[in-house]
Parts: sequence; structure tokens; C-alpha cells
Amino acid sequence: MFNKLRLWKTGTTTKTLQDQISNVKQQKIPEHVAIIMDGNGRWAKKRKLPRIAGHHEGMKCVKRITKMADELGIKVLTLYAFSTENWKRPKTEVDYIMSLPEQFLSTFLPELMEKNVRVTAIGYTEKLPEHTLKALDNAVEKTKNNTGLNLNFALNYGSRSEILQAVNNIVKDSQTGELDANGITEEVFSSYLMTGGLNDPDLLIRTSGEIRISNFMLWQLAYTELWFTDVLWPDFKEEHLIEAIEVFQNRQRRFGGV
Ligand code: FPP
Repeated sequence: MFNKLRLWKTGTTTKTLQDQISNVKQQKIPEHVAIIMDGNGRWAKKRKLPRIAGHHEGMKCVKRITKMADELGIKVLTLYAFSTENWKRPKTEVDYIMSLPEQFLSTFLPELMEKNVRVTAIGYTEKLPEHTLKALDNAVEKTKNNTGLNLNFALNYGSRSEILQAVNNIVKDSQTGELDANGITEEVFSSYLMTGGLNDPDLLIRTSGEIRISNFMLWQLAYTELWFTDVLWPDFKEEHLIEAIEVFQNRQRRFGGV
């Protein structure tokens, strides 16, 4: 088994994590889950630790949730790890966050390979520090033929600028004749976004009690089910992901219909 068997209380019944997993797997599992991982700083502050300790714990949480996403049969897990606005943070914090992909991949890549996980990224990754990009590129390359869970990191990602970039590229391609300017459908527009061939997220989770989208996948989230929790990202456990999926399974998605 990929995860450890653990016990926890739901209401008056004690259920094993395995029971809970089997239960949710009996209904439709969201194919694409996106997460705004928020609250690392507050987690650290509560413990009188430096903010970077929260990010380190946040990285450990990414491992935990990746394993559970794989076990649940989620196809794509997109994690918002760094936004185009996050460069405004103190340099020491930015430098630390930029070391996380290496830390994560140097310890976790063998397990990702073993589990057939494919690593991809969206965002202006070419602007990342060289060492960060190298670790990321290496993982993308090594896992490119894997056919299991797609672990997709949003790094130096911003949705408005992604949309503007798509518009500019559409204009350019229309001018060169590569694209018929009269045939720009939603599908064509989507294909110009960084998410390219990915289906839109079915479920978006944001941790830490903030009820905002924060410039994340603005086009792609049009019909996504949103789920917010007060739990801080480093405290987010397998059972929280399962809870989000249970809520998703009880929602009626109408996509604008009746
Ligand atoms: C937001 O919390 C979190 C971030 C900007 C960084 C997120 C990064 C991780 C969770 C680790 C990523 C791991 C890999 C492998 C790339 P915050 O700092 O804004 O928290 P706060 O709102 O409580 O201050």
C-alpha cells in the first residue's frame, strides 16, 4: 500500500483511511484537482518558527498529497507553488522556495518514477533560477513517458499574463496565416494557454481560510467546483483531500444547464 494505514474519528464512527479511500473510489473521482497551497507562513508563525520552516513543511505535505492523489486515481494534480507576484517577498524566502523543487525532487523522484508519475510545469519557468529550472527540467525529462498521475507544478505562474500571452500569440499567428482569425473557438484559445492540452480542473482546493483565486487559472476555472478550508497547507492531510472529494461528489455540476 502506498500510504500508511491510519485511524481517525469522523463523528462517532472510527474509520480507517483505507475505508474512506474505498468509499470515495466508488463514485466519480475528479480527474483534475488544482490546489492553492496557502498558509505556510502562518503555520510557522504559530510555532514561532521562521517562515521558511513553514515552506519546508509545505513541501513534505506536497509529497503526502501527491501519494494520496495517485492512490485515489486522480489524473492531474496542479499545485500553485509560486506566483508571478511572489517575487515581492524577502529574498531569503524567495531563495528558499526556489530551492524546494530540488529538495523535493532529489528525495522523491525515484518514488515518482516507481509510481509512474509524470512531472510537468506551467508558468514562466524560464525565469526561474538556473538550479531550480535544472532540477525541474530533469524531472520533466525523466518522467515524460510515464502514464500515471500528472503532477503539474505552477511555478512563476500568473493567469492574467498567461491570458495576455495567449492573445498576443493568437494575433501573431493570425498575422502570419498560421491561424484563421475567424476560427478562434474556446478550444483554440485554451490550446494557447500554458495548460495546453490539459482538461480544466474539476475541483479547486484552497487552504488557510482565504477565499480568493489569486490570479490562478482564471480561464480554466470557469466551471470548476471550489472548496475552501481553514486548514493551513502544512496541516493538510490525506483525509482533508478525501473530504474535499466527498464534497465534490455531492455537488451537482450543471455547466450552466439545468
Ligand atoms: C503560500 O503560503 C505558499 C507559497 C507561496 C509557497 C508554496 C510552496 C510550497 C507549499 C512548497 C512547494 C513545493 C515544491 C516541491 C515546489 P504563504 O507563505 O503565503 O502563507 P501565509 O499566507 O500564511 O503567509
